[in-house]
Amino acid sequence: MKTLKTQVAIIGAGPSGLLLGQLLHNAGIDTLIIERQTPDYVLGRIRAGVLEQGMVELLREAGVGQRMDAEGLVHGGFELALDGRRVHIDLQALTGGKTVMVYGQTEVTRDLMAARRETGGRTIYEARDVVPCGMKSDEAFVTFEKDGETWRVDCDYIAGCDGFHGVARQSIPADCLKVFERVYPFGWLGILADTPPIHDELVYARHERGFALCSMRSATRTRYYLQVPAEESVDDWSDERFWDELRNRLPEDLAQKLVTGPSIEKSIAPLRSFVVEPMQYGRMFLVGDAAHIVPPTGAKGLNLAASDVSTLFRILLKVYLEGRTDLLEKYSQICLRRVWKAERFSWWMTSMLHRFDEHDDFSQRISASELDYFVSSEAGQKTIAENYVGLPYEAIE
Ligand code: APR
Ligand code: PHB
Repeated sequence: MKTLKTQVAIIGAGPSGLLLGQLLHNAGIDTLIIERQTPDYVLGRIRAGVLEQGMVELLREAGVGQRMDAEGLVHGGFELALDGRRVHIDLQALTGGKTVMVYGQTEVTRDLMAARRETGGRTIYEARDVVPCGMKSDEAFVTFEKDGETWRVDCDYIAGCDGFHGVARQSIPADCLKVFERVYPFGWLGILADTPPIHDELVYARHERGFALCSMRSATRTRYYLQVPAEESVDDWSDERFWDELRNRLPEDLAQKLVTGPSIEKSIAPLRSFVVEPMQYGRMFLVGDAAHIVPPTGAKGLNLAASDVSTLFRILLKVYLEGRTDLLEKYSQICLRRVWKAERFSWWMTSMLHRFDEHDDFSQRISASELDYFVSSEAGQKTIAENYVGLPYEAIE
Protein backbone atom coordinates (compact mmCIF):
# COMPACT_ATOMS: atom_id res chain seq x y z
CA MET A 1 0.00 0.00 0.00
CA LYS A 2 1.32 3.46 -0.93
CA THR A 3 0.97 6.23 1.64
CA LEU A 4 0.41 9.97 1.53
CA LYS A 5 0.14 12.51 4.32
CA THR A 6 -1.86 15.70 4.70
CA GLN A 7 -3.42 17.84 7.43
CA VAL A 8 -7.00 17.80 6.14
CA ALA A 9 -8.17 15.06 3.76
CA ILE A 10 -11.18 16.27 1.78
CA ILE A 11 -13.49 13.72 0.15
CA GLY A 12 -15.27 15.21 -2.89
CA ALA A 13 -14.27 17.98 -5.33
CA GLY A 14 -17.65 19.68 -5.68
CA PRO A 15 -18.06 23.29 -4.58
CA SER A 16 -17.82 22.39 -0.85
CA GLY A 17 -14.58 20.43 -1.11
CA LEU A 18 -12.91 22.84 -3.52
CA LEU A 19 -13.86 25.96 -1.55
CA LEU A 20 -12.74 24.48 1.77
CA GLY A 21 -9.53 23.33 0.09
CA GLN A 22 -8.81 26.79 -1.30
CA LEU A 23 -9.43 28.62 1.98
CA LEU A 24 -7.25 26.17 3.93
CA HIS A 25 -4.53 26.21 1.28
CA ASN A 26 -4.38 30.03 1.36
CA ALA A 27 -3.97 29.84 5.13
CA GLY A 28 -1.00 27.49 4.80
CA ILE A 29 -2.91 24.38 5.87
CA ASP A 30 -2.21 21.36 3.67
CA THR A 31 -5.12 19.51 2.06
CA LEU A 32 -5.57 16.60 -0.30
CA ILE A 33 -8.85 16.31 -2.20
CA ILE A 34 -10.01 12.85 -3.26
CA GLU A 35 -12.74 12.79 -5.93
CA ARG A 36 -14.48 9.83 -7.54
CA GLN A 37 -15.20 11.43 -10.92
CA THR A 38 -13.20 13.26 -13.61
CA PRO A 39 -13.05 17.09 -13.64
CA ASP A 40 -15.20 17.16 -16.79
CA TYR A 41 -17.86 15.02 -15.18
CA VAL A 42 -17.99 17.34 -12.14
CA LEU A 43 -18.33 20.36 -14.45
CA GLY A 44 -21.01 18.65 -16.52
CA ARG A 45 -23.58 18.69 -13.71
CA ILE A 46 -25.94 21.64 -14.13
CA ARG A 47 -27.00 22.89 -10.72
CA ALA A 48 -28.29 26.08 -9.11
CA GLY A 49 -27.20 29.61 -9.85
CA VAL A 50 -28.06 32.12 -7.12
CA LEU A 51 -25.35 33.12 -4.62
CA GLU A 52 -26.11 34.88 -1.34
CA GLN A 53 -23.92 37.81 -0.33
CA GLY A 54 -22.23 35.67 2.35
CA MET A 55 -21.11 33.18 -0.27
CA VAL A 56 -20.03 35.95 -2.64
CA GLU A 57 -17.84 37.38 0.13
CA LEU A 58 -16.44 33.96 0.98
CA LEU A 59 -15.48 33.34 -2.66
CA ARG A 60 -13.71 36.72 -2.71
CA GLU A 61 -11.96 35.84 0.56
CA ALA A 62 -10.78 32.61 -1.06
CA GLY A 63 -9.33 34.66 -3.95
CA VAL A 64 -11.72 33.25 -6.55
CA GLY A 65 -14.13 36.15 -6.99
CA GLN A 66 -12.67 37.91 -10.05
CA ARG A 67 -14.68 36.27 -12.83
CA MET A 68 -17.83 36.18 -10.69
CA ASP A 69 -17.51 39.93 -10.09
CA ALA A 70 -16.93 40.56 -13.79
CA GLU A 71 -19.54 38.23 -15.28
CA GLY A 72 -22.09 37.54 -12.52
CA LEU A 73 -25.39 39.41 -12.53
CA VAL A 74 -26.26 41.32 -9.35
CA HIS A 75 -30.00 41.05 -8.68
CA GLY A 76 -31.72 43.44 -6.32
CA GLY A 77 -35.06 41.67 -6.47
CA PHE A 78 -37.13 38.82 -7.89
CA GLU A 79 -40.70 38.36 -8.99
CA LEU A 80 -43.52 36.15 -7.78
CA ALA A 81 -46.22 35.41 -10.34
CA LEU A 82 -49.24 34.22 -8.38
CA ASP A 83 -51.96 32.75 -10.54
CA GLY A 84 -51.38 35.50 -13.09
CA ARG A 85 -50.70 38.39 -10.70
CA ARG A 86 -47.13 39.76 -10.62
CA VAL A 87 -45.55 40.80 -7.31
CA HIS A 88 -42.09 42.35 -7.15
CA ILE A 89 -39.99 41.42 -4.11
CA ASP A 90 -37.54 44.30 -3.82
CA LEU A 91 -34.73 42.54 -1.97
CA GLN A 92 -32.58 45.63 -1.74
CA ALA A 93 -35.27 47.91 -0.30
CA LEU A 94 -36.59 45.24 2.07
CA THR A 95 -33.18 44.19 3.50
CA GLY A 96 -31.35 47.51 3.76
CA GLY A 97 -29.41 47.11 0.54
CA LYS A 98 -28.67 43.38 0.22
CA THR A 99 -28.60 41.66 -3.16
CA VAL A 100 -27.88 38.20 -4.61
CA MET A 101 -25.49 37.24 -7.42
CA VAL A 102 -26.70 35.16 -10.34
CA TYR A 103 -23.66 33.04 -11.27
CA GLY A 104 -23.89 29.33 -12.08
CA GLN A 105 -22.53 26.66 -9.78
CA THR A 106 -20.68 25.25 -12.80
CA GLU A 107 -18.77 28.53 -13.10
CA VAL A 108 -18.04 28.65 -9.36
CA THR A 109 -16.64 25.12 -9.64
CA ARG A 110 -14.61 26.00 -12.75
CA ASP A 111 -13.05 29.02 -10.97
CA LEU A 112 -12.23 26.94 -7.89
CA MET A 113 -10.65 24.19 -10.01
CA ALA A 114 -8.49 26.77 -11.82
CA ALA A 115 -7.39 28.36 -8.54
CA ARG A 116 -6.45 24.99 -7.09
CA ARG A 117 -4.38 24.17 -10.16
CA GLU A 118 -2.62 27.55 -10.04
CA THR A 119 -1.82 27.36 -6.35
CA GLY A 120 -0.56 23.78 -6.55
CA GLY A 121 -3.19 22.12 -4.34
CA ARG A 122 -3.29 18.33 -4.73
CA THR A 123 -6.47 16.73 -6.10
CA ILE A 124 -6.80 13.06 -6.97
CA TYR A 125 -9.56 12.52 -9.52
CA GLU A 126 -11.04 9.14 -10.48
CA ALA A 127 -10.31 7.65 -7.06
CA ARG A 128 -12.22 4.40 -6.50
CA ASP A 129 -13.48 2.83 -3.25
CA VAL A 130 -12.77 5.86 -1.08
CA VAL A 131 -13.14 4.93 2.62
CA PRO A 132 -12.71 7.23 5.64
CA CYS A 133 -11.17 5.32 8.60
CA GLY A 134 -10.11 5.81 12.23
CA MET A 135 -12.36 8.83 12.74
CA LYS A 136 -12.86 8.02 16.42
CA SER A 137 -9.13 7.49 17.06
CA ASP A 138 -6.11 9.78 16.92
CA GLU A 139 -5.07 8.20 13.64
CA ALA A 140 -7.60 9.16 11.02
CA PHE A 141 -6.89 8.13 7.45
CA VAL A 142 -8.59 7.67 4.11
CA THR A 143 -7.98 4.78 1.74
CA PHE A 144 -8.74 4.61 -1.98
CA GLU A 145 -7.82 2.78 -5.17
CA LYS A 146 -6.31 4.50 -8.16
CA ASP A 147 -5.04 2.82 -11.33
CA GLY A 148 -5.08 -0.58 -9.63
CA GLU A 149 -3.09 0.55 -6.58
CA THR A 150 -4.29 1.03 -3.00
CA TRP A 151 -3.42 4.29 -1.26
CA ARG A 152 -3.62 5.39 2.37
CA VAL A 153 -3.77 9.09 3.27
CA ASP A 154 -2.86 9.82 6.89
CA CYS A 155 -4.44 13.03 8.17
CA ASP A 156 -5.52 15.03 11.22
CA TYR A 157 -9.09 15.56 10.05
CA ILE A 158 -11.43 14.39 7.29
CA ALA A 159 -13.94 16.69 5.57
CA GLY A 160 -16.83 14.73 4.04
CA CYS A 161 -17.69 17.02 1.10
CA ASP A 162 -18.94 14.17 -1.07
CA GLY A 163 -22.57 15.12 -1.59
CA PHE A 164 -25.81 13.31 -0.81
CA HIS A 165 -24.73 9.95 -2.27
CA GLY A 166 -21.22 10.10 -0.83
CA VAL A 167 -19.36 7.64 1.37
CA ALA A 168 -18.65 9.93 4.35
CA ARG A 169 -22.12 9.97 5.89
CA GLN A 170 -22.59 6.28 5.07
CA SER A 171 -19.41 5.44 7.02
CA ILE A 172 -20.92 6.70 10.27
CA PRO A 173 -22.68 3.97 12.31
CA ALA A 174 -26.42 4.38 11.83
CA ASP A 175 -27.09 4.53 15.56
CA CYS A 176 -24.90 7.65 15.83
CA LEU A 177 -27.04 9.65 13.39
CA LYS A 178 -30.56 10.96 13.33
CA VAL A 179 -32.08 11.47 9.91
CA PHE A 180 -34.87 13.96 9.13
CA GLU A 181 -36.42 13.63 5.71
CA ARG A 182 -39.31 14.69 3.51
CA VAL A 183 -39.66 13.59 -0.09
CA TYR A 184 -42.03 15.64 -2.26
CA PRO A 185 -44.37 13.97 -4.77
CA PHE A 186 -42.97 15.96 -7.69
CA GLY A 187 -39.73 16.96 -9.37
CA TRP A 188 -38.38 19.84 -11.42
CA LEU A 189 -37.91 19.44 -15.13
CA GLY A 190 -35.17 21.91 -16.08
CA ILE A 191 -33.88 23.10 -19.42
CA LEU A 192 -30.90 25.22 -20.35
CA ALA A 193 -31.17 27.24 -23.58
CA ASP A 194 -29.25 29.94 -25.38
CA THR A 195 -32.12 32.39 -25.39
CA PRO A 196 -32.45 35.84 -23.76
CA PRO A 197 -34.17 35.79 -20.34
CA ILE A 198 -37.88 36.51 -20.27
CA HIS A 199 -37.37 39.19 -17.61
CA ASP A 200 -34.40 40.94 -15.98
CA GLU A 201 -35.16 39.25 -12.64
CA LEU A 202 -35.97 35.63 -11.70
CA VAL A 203 -39.69 34.80 -11.84
CA TYR A 204 -41.17 32.19 -9.46
CA ALA A 205 -44.65 31.27 -10.71
CA ARG A 206 -47.44 29.62 -8.77
CA HIS A 207 -50.15 28.30 -11.08
CA GLU A 208 -53.00 25.79 -10.85
CA ARG A 209 -51.16 23.63 -13.44
CA GLY A 210 -48.07 23.64 -11.20
CA PHE A 211 -44.99 25.68 -10.33
CA ALA A 212 -42.62 27.23 -12.88
CA LEU A 213 -39.35 29.14 -12.50
CA CYS A 214 -37.65 31.41 -15.02
CA SER A 215 -33.99 31.76 -14.14
CA MET A 216 -30.88 32.63 -16.12
CA ARG A 217 -27.16 32.12 -16.35
CA SER A 218 -26.32 35.27 -18.35
CA ALA A 219 -27.95 37.83 -20.65
CA THR A 220 -28.01 35.16 -23.37
CA ARG A 221 -28.52 31.90 -21.50
CA THR A 222 -31.67 30.84 -19.65
CA ARG A 223 -32.51 28.14 -17.14
CA TYR A 224 -36.23 27.38 -16.85
CA TYR A 225 -38.02 24.81 -14.70
CA LEU A 226 -41.46 23.18 -14.52
CA GLN A 227 -42.98 21.20 -11.66
CA VAL A 228 -43.70 17.69 -12.99
CA PRO A 229 -44.92 14.48 -11.29
CA ALA A 230 -42.07 12.56 -9.61
CA GLU A 231 -42.43 9.60 -11.98
CA GLU A 232 -42.31 11.70 -15.16
CA SER A 233 -39.79 10.76 -17.86
CA VAL A 234 -37.70 13.41 -19.57
CA ASP A 235 -38.20 11.58 -22.88
CA ASP A 236 -41.86 12.59 -22.82
CA TRP A 237 -40.92 16.25 -22.87
CA SER A 238 -40.01 17.61 -26.28
CA ASP A 239 -38.70 21.18 -26.28
CA GLU A 240 -41.97 22.28 -27.82
CA ARG A 241 -44.04 20.69 -25.06
CA PHE A 242 -41.82 22.33 -22.45
CA TRP A 243 -42.17 25.82 -23.95
CA ASP A 244 -45.94 25.44 -24.38
CA GLU A 245 -46.39 24.35 -20.78
CA LEU A 246 -44.15 27.14 -19.46
CA ARG A 247 -46.18 29.71 -21.40
CA ASN A 248 -49.36 28.26 -19.87
CA ARG A 249 -48.09 28.78 -16.33
CA LEU A 250 -46.91 32.40 -16.74
CA PRO A 251 -48.94 35.62 -16.62
CA GLU A 252 -49.99 36.58 -20.13
CA ASP A 253 -47.86 39.71 -20.47
CA LEU A 254 -44.76 37.71 -19.54
CA ALA A 255 -45.68 34.67 -21.63
CA GLN A 256 -45.83 36.90 -24.68
CA LYS A 257 -42.19 37.84 -24.14
CA LEU A 258 -40.94 34.26 -23.98
CA VAL A 259 -38.22 33.58 -26.53
CA THR A 260 -37.84 29.87 -27.21
CA GLY A 261 -34.99 27.88 -28.73
CA PRO A 262 -33.44 24.42 -28.73
CA SER A 263 -32.52 23.08 -25.27
CA ILE A 264 -28.87 22.35 -24.58
CA GLU A 265 -29.62 20.34 -21.46
CA LYS A 266 -32.81 18.83 -20.11
CA SER A 267 -33.18 16.83 -16.90
CA ILE A 268 -35.53 16.06 -14.03
CA ALA A 269 -34.44 16.50 -10.40
CA PRO A 270 -36.42 15.09 -7.48
CA LEU A 271 -37.28 17.42 -4.59
CA ARG A 272 -36.23 16.45 -1.11
CA SER A 273 -35.66 17.94 2.34
CA PHE A 274 -33.02 16.03 4.31
CA VAL A 275 -30.90 16.72 7.39
CA VAL A 276 -28.60 14.45 9.34
CA GLU A 277 -27.60 15.20 12.92
CA PRO A 278 -24.92 15.59 14.11
CA MET A 279 -22.67 16.73 11.27
CA GLN A 280 -19.56 15.39 12.99
CA TYR A 281 -18.24 11.93 13.82
CA GLY A 282 -14.96 12.13 15.73
CA ARG A 283 -12.37 13.57 13.36
CA MET A 284 -14.72 13.63 10.38
CA PHE A 285 -16.98 16.59 9.50
CA LEU A 286 -19.88 16.47 7.05
CA VAL A 287 -20.12 19.53 4.81
CA GLY A 288 -22.79 20.63 2.30
CA ASP A 289 -24.98 18.09 0.53
CA ALA A 290 -23.33 15.23 2.47
CA ALA A 291 -25.26 16.46 5.52
CA HIS A 292 -28.35 18.18 4.16
CA ILE A 293 -30.51 18.65 1.08
CA VAL A 294 -33.10 21.34 0.46
CA PRO A 295 -35.64 21.53 -2.36
CA PRO A 296 -34.30 24.14 -4.83
CA THR A 297 -37.21 26.58 -4.47
CA GLY A 298 -35.35 28.94 -2.14
CA ALA A 299 -31.98 28.63 -3.96
CA LYS A 300 -30.35 27.58 -0.70
CA GLY A 301 -28.43 24.32 -1.41
CA LEU A 302 -25.15 25.75 -2.61
CA ASN A 303 -25.34 28.64 -0.14
CA LEU A 304 -25.74 26.29 2.81
CA ALA A 305 -22.69 24.38 1.62
CA ALA A 306 -20.78 27.68 1.68
CA SER A 307 -21.83 28.52 5.24
CA ASP A 308 -20.74 25.05 6.44
CA VAL A 309 -17.40 25.58 4.70
CA SER A 310 -16.99 28.98 6.35
CA THR A 311 -17.68 27.52 9.80
CA LEU A 312 -15.35 24.55 9.39
CA PHE A 313 -12.62 26.74 7.90
CA ARG A 314 -12.74 29.20 10.81
CA ILE A 315 -12.68 26.40 13.38
CA LEU A 316 -9.73 24.67 11.65
CA LEU A 317 -7.86 28.01 11.56
CA LYS A 318 -8.16 28.14 15.36
CA VAL A 319 -6.93 24.56 15.57
CA TYR A 320 -3.84 25.09 13.41
CA LEU A 321 -2.93 28.69 14.26
CA GLU A 322 -3.77 28.75 17.97
CA GLY A 323 -3.89 25.10 19.00
CA ARG A 324 -7.55 25.53 20.00
CA THR A 325 -9.25 22.16 19.54
CA ASP A 326 -12.19 22.95 21.86
CA LEU A 327 -14.23 24.55 19.06
CA LEU A 328 -14.29 21.39 16.91
CA GLU A 329 -17.19 19.95 18.84
CA LYS A 330 -19.24 23.10 18.20
CA TYR A 331 -19.15 22.69 14.39
CA SER A 332 -22.35 20.71 14.15
CA GLN A 333 -24.45 22.90 16.46
CA ILE A 334 -23.33 26.10 14.75
CA CYS A 335 -24.08 24.75 11.26
CA LEU A 336 -27.36 23.10 12.16
CA ARG A 337 -28.94 26.29 13.48
CA ARG A 338 -28.50 27.91 10.04
CA VAL A 339 -29.24 24.69 8.17
CA TRP A 340 -32.63 24.29 9.85
CA LYS A 341 -33.62 27.89 9.12
CA ALA A 342 -32.81 27.37 5.44
CA GLU A 343 -34.65 24.02 5.53
CA ARG A 344 -37.68 25.83 6.89
CA PHE A 345 -37.55 28.57 4.26
CA SER A 346 -37.03 26.10 1.39
CA TRP A 347 -39.88 23.92 2.62
CA TRP A 348 -42.12 26.98 2.98
CA MET A 349 -41.34 28.37 -0.48
CA THR A 350 -41.93 24.88 -1.89
CA SER A 351 -45.23 24.47 -0.03
CA MET A 352 -46.48 27.91 -1.03
CA LEU A 353 -45.62 27.77 -4.72
CA HIS A 354 -46.24 24.16 -5.81
CA ARG A 355 -49.40 22.32 -6.61
CA PHE A 356 -50.01 19.45 -4.18
CA ASP A 357 -52.55 17.11 -5.79
CA GLU A 358 -53.18 15.31 -2.53
CA HIS A 359 -54.21 18.49 -0.71
CA ASP A 360 -57.94 18.99 -0.32
CA ASP A 361 -59.67 22.20 -1.41
CA PHE A 362 -59.46 23.66 2.08
CA SER A 363 -55.66 23.21 2.24
CA GLN A 364 -55.24 24.72 -1.23
CA ARG A 365 -57.19 27.82 -0.18
CA ILE A 366 -55.24 28.12 3.09
CA SER A 367 -51.89 28.07 1.34
CA ALA A 368 -53.02 30.54 -1.36
CA SER A 369 -54.28 32.80 1.41
CA GLU A 370 -51.05 32.45 3.43
CA LEU A 371 -48.98 33.51 0.46
CA ASP A 372 -51.38 36.33 -0.35
CA TYR A 373 -51.00 37.57 3.22
CA PHE A 374 -47.19 37.46 3.05
CA VAL A 375 -46.96 39.38 -0.21
CA SER A 376 -49.57 42.00 0.76
CA SER A 377 -47.86 42.89 4.03
CA GLU A 378 -44.51 44.66 4.27
CA ALA A 379 -43.59 42.49 7.26
CA GLY A 380 -44.35 39.42 5.18
CA GLN A 381 -42.31 40.63 2.22
CA LYS A 382 -39.42 41.44 4.57
CA THR A 383 -39.47 37.90 5.92
CA ILE A 384 -39.28 36.48 2.42
CA ALA A 385 -36.53 38.91 1.42
CA GLU A 386 -34.30 38.44 4.46
CA ASN A 387 -34.39 34.66 4.04
CA TYR A 388 -33.85 34.83 0.28
CA VAL A 389 -30.73 37.03 0.50
CA GLY A 390 -29.45 34.69 3.22
CA LEU A 391 -29.42 34.77 7.01
CA PRO A 392 -26.13 35.90 8.58
CA TYR A 393 -23.30 33.43 9.18
CA GLU A 394 -22.94 32.68 12.89
CA ALA A 395 -19.62 33.51 14.55
CA ILE A 396 -17.75 30.44 15.87
CA GLU A 397 -17.47 31.98 19.35
N1 APR B 1 -15.63 9.34 -3.13
C1 APR B 1 -15.12 10.50 -3.64
N2 APR B 1 -15.88 11.51 -4.11
C2 APR B 1 -17.19 11.35 -4.10
C3 APR B 1 -17.80 10.17 -3.58
C4 APR B 1 -16.96 9.15 -3.08
N3 APR B 1 -17.48 8.03 -2.59
N4 APR B 1 -19.13 10.30 -3.69
C5 APR B 1 -19.36 11.51 -4.25
N5 APR B 1 -18.20 12.13 -4.50
C6 APR B 1 -18.02 13.44 -5.12
C7 APR B 1 -18.98 13.72 -6.25
O1 APR B 1 -18.54 13.15 -7.47
C8 APR B 1 -19.01 15.24 -6.28
O2 APR B 1 -18.05 15.78 -7.16
O3 APR B 1 -18.28 14.46 -4.18
C9 APR B 1 -18.69 15.65 -4.86
C10 APR B 1 -19.89 16.24 -4.14
O4 APR B 1 -20.30 17.43 -4.79
P1 APR B 1 -21.79 18.01 -4.71
O5 APR B 1 -22.76 16.90 -4.85
O6 APR B 1 -21.86 19.13 -5.67
O7 APR B 1 -21.93 18.53 -3.21
P2 APR B 1 -21.31 19.82 -2.50
O8 APR B 1 -19.89 20.06 -2.91
O9 APR B 1 -21.67 19.72 -1.06
O10 APR B 1 -22.07 21.01 -3.22
C11 APR B 1 -23.11 21.73 -2.67
O11 APR B 1 -25.43 21.94 -2.78
O12 APR B 1 -27.66 21.95 -3.33
C12 APR B 1 -26.44 21.70 -3.72
O13 APR B 1 -26.49 22.24 -6.05
C13 APR B 1 -25.83 22.35 -4.85
O14 APR B 1 -24.40 20.62 -5.62
C14 APR B 1 -24.47 21.73 -4.80
C15 APR B 1 -24.35 21.39 -3.38
C1 PHB C 1 -31.25 28.19 -11.16
O1 PHB C 1 -30.92 29.17 -11.80
O2 PHB C 1 -30.90 27.04 -11.51
C2 PHB C 1 -32.10 28.35 -9.95
C3 PHB C 1 -32.39 29.64 -9.51
C4 PHB C 1 -33.20 29.80 -8.40
C5 PHB C 1 -33.69 28.72 -7.73
C6 PHB C 1 -33.38 27.43 -8.16
C7 PHB C 1 -32.58 27.25 -9.28
O3 PHB C 1 -34.49 28.89 -6.65
